[in-house]
Amino acid sequence: MKEVVHELFSEEQVKERVLEIAEELNKEYAGKSLRLICILRGSVFFFAELAKRLEMPVTIDFMAASSYGNGTSSSGKLEILKDLDDAIEGLDCLIIEDIVDTGNTLSMVKKMLLARNPASVKICALLDKPARRETDVDVEYIGFEIPDQFIVGYGLDYAQKYRNLPYIGVLEFIEE
Ligand code: IMP
Ligand code: MG
Repeated sequence: MKEVVHELFSEEQVKERVLEIAEELNKEYAGKSLRLICILRGSVFFFAELAKRLEMPVTIDFMAASSYGNGTSSSGKLEILKDLDDAIEGLDCLIIEDIVDTGNTLSMVKKMLLARNPASVKICALLDKPARRETDVDVEYIGFEIPDQFIVGYGLDYAQKYRNLPYIGVLEFIEE
């Protein structure tokens, strides 16, 4: 099988959208401090570009997780591959994620973080595939809503490849 990537959102389009989200966040969190929580590895580029445009005092932390299970948050299992380094008690937190697909991972991550008594936890995702949702999760900030296609680039991977593409693309498999 040959893999071909078709550009869906150009580098310029992504950049513009990141600036728009940053503006929204600058209004929403004006006068506050924000703990940005980067969900590894897919959101690293989005996280970094967004963080640079924020004007309130920002601190950053990283978490890696993967979810298994049959789709409901109660029966799904969250495996924490890397936990946050610092406590979040009393802090306004914003989770930065690459893509919300079934919603299972984020709903469990959010529940886990809420149990640590932060002041607030909101979610900002670069991409949203609502057609695939299994678990309801509030995503307050979304870069682009997309149909059910497999996405790579700008941090997102297929078998760990394509993360470094500067644009967002759809991966197509072609018979050779
Ligand atoms: P879910 O919302 O719990 O199903 O999991 C979301 C995670 O699955 C994301 O953080 C990605 O790592 C991965 N994922 C889902 N859809 C895609 C895609 O189209 N391309 C690359 N990774 C994806
Ligand atoms: Mg991910």
